[in-house]
This record gives sequence, structure tokens and C-alpha cells, in this order.
Amino acid sequence: MAKIVILSGAGLSAESGLSTFRDSGGLWDQYDISVVCNYDSMQKNEELTIEFYDKRRAELEFKEPNYAHKVIVELKKEYGSDIAVITQNVDNLFEKAGMNSEDVIHLHGFLPELRCQDCERVYTVGYKKQNEFGDGLCPECSAKLRPNIVFFGEPAPKYELLSEHISDCELFIVIGTSGEVIGVNSIAQFTDRSILNNLEPSGAIEDSLFTKVFYTKATDAIDEIANEIDEFLA
Ligand code: APR
Repeated sequence: MAKIVILSGAGLSAESGLSTFRDSGGLWDQYDISVVCNYDSMQKNEELTIEFYDKRRAELEFKEPNYAHKVIVELKKEYGSDIAVITQNVDNLFEKAGMNSEDVIHLHGFLPELRCQDCERVYTVGYKKQNEFGDGLCPECSAKLRPNIVFFGEPAPKYELLSEHISDCELFIVIGTSGEVIGVNSIAQFTDRSILNNLEPSGAIEDSLFTKVFYTKATDAIDEIANEIDEFLA
């Protein structure tokens, strides 16, 4: 598996104008997680949940990758399988920056996709509202579709890939995540070298476990992080 894992969160896309979740004014200040991002959201609050993801999907059309996305895409192109690009983000900014879709792992799903609630087929719908794609029904089996997003309390199958990559990675890089969902402390503790880049300390992250810490915007830290990677793989 990869020598280097770059794990990102909403903070990586913040400078592209996409809201984070737990920063003040973030999405979870505006919406109740348990209503729009819970395993039973589609059963209990179908309309509000579809509306929430339709709005976030439509917003993506007008957002552009920032410098940090672009540097990570170039690093992946240069170093290939030596680097695993793994993100909690469901936006398509890595792809807009030129990343091949198979070269980034979206742990929590992907906003431009819908999934059939029955046959589980996945459809790429771009920025369309759910009900603008086949009236919101699966073209294959006619069951209802849903956002192809992992809600709290649901299985997140791609976490297996994360475990595989971190099991033998030698440099663990965290960019723009509070660590509230993925426990990054234990990964940093058992990896030879680790880098943390957030705007400010997070209650869920023990930064003393990291070899290097950058409390600054990702677009300011990314060149130093890229230098670390270049030196590490030289
Ligand atoms: N550059 C670097 N880091 C930033 C920036 C920036 N410009 N702006 C914000 N951050 C950092 C904040 O310091 C914070 O630590 O990004 C982090 C954002 O944390 P969250 O809002 O909790 O987002 P994230 O960690 O991605 O959430 C994880 O929770 O709700 C679920 O599924 C959702 O994938 C999401 C998961």
C-alpha cells in the first residue's frame, strides 16, 4: 500500500468557498445532523434531506479547486501509488483540479452521485436535483434514489481502504479535519512521521503526537507539506 497517506476534511475545501461542518457558522450550525445526515434521515425526513443535498450539489457547480487541491493532484500524478489521497469530503474539487476519479478515495460518498435504495446502483448526476434525474427513481429497478453519501450510523465500506493504507504508511498527513469522525491520534501515534495542518487546535486531536504541525490555511501550508513529501520520497 502507499508510503504516504494524505487524509483531508472540509477544511481543505474551505478556501474554495465550501462550508466546513463544525467551524462557527458551519453546516452543523445551520442544520441538525440527526435530521439530514442520519441512518434514518431518508425514512424520517426525506424531503428535507433531499433538499439539503440538492442544495449542496447545486452549489458545487460554481466552486473551483484551490491551490492546495492543485498541489495534491500534482503530487499524486508525480508519485502515483506511493501516495494515497483519501478524503472525507464529498465534493468534486480534486476531480475538477484534474485528479483521475480512481485516484482519490471518498470515504463519506460523493455529492455528484445518487444511489438506488434498492439495487444500490450508483448514477452520476452532476449538479442536478435528485428529482430532475429520472423523477428521483432508479432507471434500472424504479425504486427511490438517495444521495450517495454515508450518513451517521451507516456502513462506510471505504474505511477498509483507509485501514489498509495506514497499516503500513510511513508518512501520515492530515489536512483540514477536526478529527471528530476519524480518530487521527492513534494513526499519528503509530506512524513514523506525521504532519497536521488545521486552522487551529481541535479538541479531538492531540497535536503533540504529530511530527510537524501547521496551524494555518491549507493553501499556505501546502508548499511546505509538498517539500516534506519530495524529501521523503527522494
Ligand atoms: N485550511 C486548513 N484547515 C482548515 C481551514 C483551512 N482554510 N478551514 C478550516 N480548517 C479546519 C478547521 O480547523 C477544522 O479543524 O478544518 C477542520 C474542519 O473540521 P470539520 O468542520 O469538523 O470537518 P471534518 O473534519 O471534515 O468533518 C468530518 O464529519 O459531519 C461529518 O461527514 C462529515 O466528513 C465530515 C466529517
